[in-house]
Amino acid sequence: MQTLIVTGAAGFIGSNFVRYMLQKYPDYRIIVLDALTYAGNLDNLKDVWSNPNFTFIKGDIRDAAIVNNLAQNADAIINFAAETHVDRSIIEPGAFLQTDVAGTWVLLEAARQHNLDRILHISTDEVYGSIDVGSFQETDILEPSSPYSASKAGAEHMVGAYHKTYGVPTIVTRGSNNFGPYHYPEKLIPLFITNLIDDQPVPVYGDGQQVRDWMYVLDHCAGIDIALHHGQPGQTYNVGGGNERANMDVVKLILHALNKPDSLIRYVTDRPGHDRRYSIDCSKIAALGYKPGATFEDRIAETVQWYVSNQDWWRAIKEKQRDYKDFMQKWYADRQ
Ligand code: NAD
Ligand code: TYD
Repeated sequence: MQTLIVTGAAGFIGSNFVRYMLQKYPDYRIIVLDALTYAGNLDNLKDVWSNPNFTFIKGDIRDAAIVNNLAQNADAIINFAAETHVDRSIIEPGAFLQTDVAGTWVLLEAARQHNLDRILHISTDEVYGSIDVGSFQETDILEPSSPYSASKAGAEHMVGAYHKTYGVPTIVTRGSNNFGPYHYPEKLIPLFITNLIDDQPVPVYGDGQQVRDWMYVLDHCAGIDIALHHGQPGQTYNVGGGNERANMDVVKLILHALNKPDSLIRYVTDRPGHDRRYSIDCSKIAALGYKPGATFEDRIAETVQWYVSNQDWWRAIKEKQRDYKDFMQKWYADRQ
């Protein structure tokens, strides 16, 4: 495998993945295809921009002409491109269906027509829905709750169909909640860190006792690398961090790291359809050699420090997203 098309890599995880891969495999060529939606940011890729093995193409994964043109000279596609924020999916589900389902189909069709060696589709543990006790295995049924997770589940079913019907060598990874550098500051961890740096309140949905399994983004990248090189075509792999924490515990950790008072916590109306707990069994990918690295507490401390040291990066984004945040606040306030 020498030439990889990596879609959606101007976003959070994709940009970390590209950096990781160029460092680990200096002879690989990486072509990034990204539409640069609100979540895409070329600043995320600035330190790989001058690498001769890196190419950036601005384009939409739904554009079959662009995708087919790139696929002619590629060995594999790794699909990160998606609409990814659950809150936005509640307000505007159509964009999620368009990119996450229809876009994935265009990539699958290109992989089929050009006989690619692999198409690795990045999915999420949210496709399973909520679980009160125990952990989901890859064979469990999908019961997504939000328009986001339903779209990701829809994409996965199309991936499965392309493997079964046409023999396309697909792989799916279902990652748990990521955190780390270059995380768009609308998601829990970067939103809360950046608000707290500015002594702004942080909105905790409902009682704050929802549980997520947090994974450092570079652990996720390592898991995807393992699935890409050692996974079996047609298979799905859970990739988690082994760090199940209630949201309130995460919030307390961030408050503590920044030495900020609990009085900045605001309990707000719960997200509609809010999944209570996510938990995945990662023994299948562990059998291929996957093991998350440092502890959650250490990674959170490093991540907080990254946002303290990279304020230009997130302040530029927050300035641009002001309208959206006002709209969100009103939308939630109207429901109270
Ligand atoms: P992100 O929102 O930070 O980035 C998404 C990227 O996709 C952006 O660069 C955007 O410009 C691009 N994009 C959106 N629509 C596109 C289109 N039609 N054509 C081309 N590019 C398009 O997302 P992220 O958090 O980095 O997530 C990446 C992938 O990982 C997604 O598929 C997501 O479902 C999955 N995932 C995310 C998490 C998480 O915690 N963030 C966990 C598990 C899985
Ligand atoms: P989020 O980062 O949006 O990821 P996801 O919904 O994909 O898991 O949210 C993580 C958890 O934090 C989720 O339970 C919702 C909660 N949350 C808040 O309490 N307040 C917030 O402002 C946000 C964005 C999320």
